[in-house]
Order: sequence, then structure tokens, then C-alpha cells
Amino acid sequence: MRKTIIAGNWKMNKTATETRDTLKELKELVDGVKDVEVVIGAPFTSLETAVKTVEGSIIKIAAQNIYPKESGAYTGEISPVMLKSIGVEYVILGHSERREYFKETDEFINEKVKSALKNGLRPILCIGESLEERETNKTDEVNSRQLEKGLAGITPEEAKNIVIAYEPIWAIGTGKTATPEMAESTHKEIRKVLAKLFGESVANEMTVQYGGSMNAKNAKELLEMDNIDGGLVGGASLEASTFIEVIKAGVKR
Ligand code: PGA
Repeated sequence: MRKTIIAGNWKMNKTATETRDTLKELKELVDGVKDVEVVIGAPFTSLETAVKTVEGSIIKIAAQNIYPKESGAYTGEISPVMLKSIGVEYVILGHSERREYFKETDEFINEKVKSALKNGLRPILCIGESLEERETNKTDEVNSRQLEKGLAGITPEEAKNIVIAYEPIWAIGTGKTATPEMAESTHKEIRKVLAKLFGESVANEMTVQYGGSMNAKNAKELLEMDNIDGGLVGGASLEASTFIEVIKAGVKR
């Protein structure tokens, strides 16, 4: 059985105080919740507060980026070692916003994936096609390329620690979600690529999340699909009272 992981991606939102308030509320709400892993991707300045606030609960904390070196002359950057040392467990990598606004390439993302794994952080590797690519039937080709390049040089054993987040770019922050059937068929193709890279049994163990306007209303039908093993949730993760509904939809999978 694959582990269901519901992760919130807070992006550039919430001060440390706001982080503490939201996570205190969420911690109470997830009390007693089982069979699902809950992750919150907080901004760098909130991470230490986040780790402390969720202590003793099922919530784990993710960073939203790293620089792929352990230390050195990289002004303004944050290393996986620094994050691990304060109790961060996951890192979101290759998000389409970083690919687009910060010109991150598959090769650079691959360096980050390797560096995260080497330093004990679990990568959540984001992939997904643009609207134009979807409309010209390039979805599977784009996802395969992002997986093959982003995961180059990763062993099957290492792959077990990686989470894939399929996020069609046209669905992010737009309120347009892929239909469950559309997402499921893309997830199946993604798992085929993972099987090619790491073998069928590892591919069957890997959590593949859906992301892109997932919310309390549509989470259940998406998460009911066989190959959708969780969600990466932006807007709907910012309020604890909304996010808990997405988490509960994951429990019932
Ligand atoms: P959204 O963002 O849920 O607000 O669409 C998802 C993401 O970008 O990870």
C-alpha cells in the first residue's frame, strides 16, 4: 500500500506569528487523524517556529527550496544541512513557479534532488505541463522528460524516499482542476515512467500527489482514484479549517 501524503504549499505566505497560529489550530484538528501523512511547506523564516509548533503531532514540515550545496559562498542561499539541523523533513523541488520565475532547469532541479536525499530531506518533486502543452497532446512527453532528467542518477532505493507531485500548470491557482479521470490517466503514465526508471515494485510504492486547485470540495473524488496518492495543496492549505477537510478526504482513500 502506498502512503497517502497531503501536503500544503504555503508559497510566500505567512509570517512566523501567523505560522504559529495556523499550525496550533491545525495540530488540534489533526489530533486522532490516522493513515495519512500531513506536511506543511512553510517559508524559510517560519520553518523553525513551524517545527516547534507541530511537535508531538503527525504534521511534518517542508521547505520550499534549497541550494544544492552543503555550505559555501552562495550569498542568500539556504542549504539542506541547515534545514535538516532545525528539524525540517521534506523539501518541495521543481515547482512550476520556480521553473518559470527563477528559470530553474531540470538539470539544476536534479542537483537539488540529489543534494536533498544525500542530506536526509525527502524531496517532493513537482512536474507538470502548461495549457499549451496539454492542448497539443504533449502532457506525457513533458512529464516523462521532467521525471527522467529530474531523477537522473537516482537509485531505486533512493527513489523510495521521493514523492512526485503532478501539478498541471493550468490548474495551479486558477480554480480549474483536472477532472479525476484526466488526472488518473496522467498519473498512470507517470507511474509507467517511474517503473521504467526504478522497476515496477518501487514505482508501485512511490506516492504520486495531484496538485492544482485541490480543495475541500474536489479532494475526495480526486483522491478516490487508484493512482492519486495524495495532494499538494496551495490556496486551500492556508486556513487550518479548510485544509483539515482535504486531509480527511485523504484518510478515507
Ligand atoms: P493551488 O496551488 O492549490 O493554489 O492551485 C498548488 C501548488 O502550486 O502547489
